[in-house]
Amino acid sequence: MKLVFATNNLNKLKEVQEMLPNSIQLLSLKDINCFDEVEETETTLEGNAKLKADYITKKFGYHCFADDTGLEVESLNGKPGVYSARYAGEPANAENNMLKLLTALKNKENRKAQFRTAICLNLDHKQFIFEGVCKGEILTEKQGNKGFGYDPIFKPQGFTESFAQMNSNDKNKVSHRGLAIQQLVEFLSNYKK
Ligand code: IMP
Repeated sequence: MKLVFATNNLNKLKEVQEMLPNSIQLLSLKDINCFDEVEETETTLEGNAKLKADYITKKFGYHCFADDTGLEVESLNGKPGVYSARYAGEPANAENNMLKLLTALKNKENRKAQFRTAICLNLDHKQFIFEGVCKGEILTEKQGNKGFGYDPIFKPQGFTESFAQMNSNDKNKVSHRGLAIQQLVEFLSNYKK
């Protein structure tokens, strides 16, 4: 079965392909000659994931899945959430986003936060949603330089290091995206038409 992952991020693609059974061939947007930019105009992670997956399925006719992730901070009522990539404005800039978040939390005692990933899968004219959550807290300053996005200021629950101090294997085992992908892979591995 051919399955499109609606992403241009080759690291994400490789990570998922390695977890899938050989009977499923994962294709990137480039593989299907899709160079369109699908704007994430919805107000929820699920909505944006669905928007992207539907665009590909409708235009190209492939089975497809798409993901969207946000960082939800409890004392900010779930912000930046679906707007995590552009929290400090366009163009997306991780340093400015982290600075804005650290400033917003300056005098807050409650630093609880969670990353949440939603995946929307279009398969055989049906739609399936998967979710992965990683709970943790926002540190008071940056720690570590691995990873991307908010990794230097996010410490997952039960760990002493930030995401940016963990190697990618360890991060993937507990991360929002890793957990959502695990669910997707389990579903696809057992899927019968
Ligand atoms: P995307 O939906 O995977 O593109 O994620 C949206 C935004 O959330 C990114 O631009 C990052 O700012 C943030 N983000 C998503 N996943 C992670 C992560 O694993 N670590 C740190 N930041 C992340």
